[in-house]
Amino acid sequence: MSSIRYEDAVPWGRSFDEYRRMFRLTDEDLGKKIIGAADGPASFNAVMKREGRHVVSCDPLYHCSGDDIRNRIEATYHSVLAQTAANQHLFEWDEIESPDALGELRMKAMQDFLSDYDQGRTEGRYVSGKLPALPFENGTFDLAICSHFLFLYSDNLPLHFHRKAVDELCRVAKELRIFPLLTYRGTPSPFAAPIVDYMRSRGYEVSVEEVPYRFQRGGNKMLRITRSHDC
Ligand SMILES: C[S@@+](CC[C@H](N)C(=O)[O-])C[C@H]1O[C@@H](n2cnc3c(N)ncnc32)[C@H](O)[C@@H]1O
Repeated sequence: MSSIRYEDAVPWGRSFDEYRRMFRLTDEDLGKKIIGAADGPASFNAVMKREGRHVVSCDPLYHCSGDDIRNRIEATYHSVLAQTAANQHLFEWDEIESPDALGELRMKAMQDFLSDYDQGRTEGRYVSGKLPALPFENGTFDLAICSHFLFLYSDNLPLHFHRKAVDELCRVAKELRIFPLLTYRGTPSPFAAPIVDYMRSRGYEVSVEEVPYRFQRGGNKMLRITRSHDC
């Protein structure tokens, strides 16, 4: 099996509908002040804007211009898709029927992102920033969501990075949801349990919850961390 390494991370964005299901976002949640950490070229922010809502996305990718991101997507799209096709056994092909259908879904999401990016940058909705240090004041957001970054790259980002990143996300938001709890190799992240213990020891309420999103095999779980009144 070819492995996918953190340093090779290429622009690859999920859709609004996937975000809703990965994070079990309710209508009430969508009205909250949300930060999407490591959002990359996902379309969540763009679709939320179209629906009259507001999200701030934060990712180191946003130091690039829209043209640079578009060129990078075009240059890497086929190899990313080929990599997924070579690792088909790691995924459930029910809702997304094939690697080709996956490619269409991802490309549509990334095009939605690109068509919103320049305006969103001007409006402060796409902010360049890198965990574990985010450019926001304490408690700026009600909810932080982080899709396919923490836990996914457990081979490359050590436990102390995960602790710092989770601390930082809980500094800027009252609640944090992370999805998935698997690595890119489709194995459970060795850091999920230590992070649960760590945040509980700091007085946070922590739960692992099933979500109505399935794609990586065994990957339908989200971590929810909520600030309790006394921390
Ligand atoms: C696999 S993509 C996930 C994109 C999006 N969240 C989604 O699920 O479609 C991982 C993202 O993590 C971003 N990233 C890499 N290092 C980061 C860091 N230190 N802090 C925040 N984001 C980072 C990358 O730029 C990339 O956009």
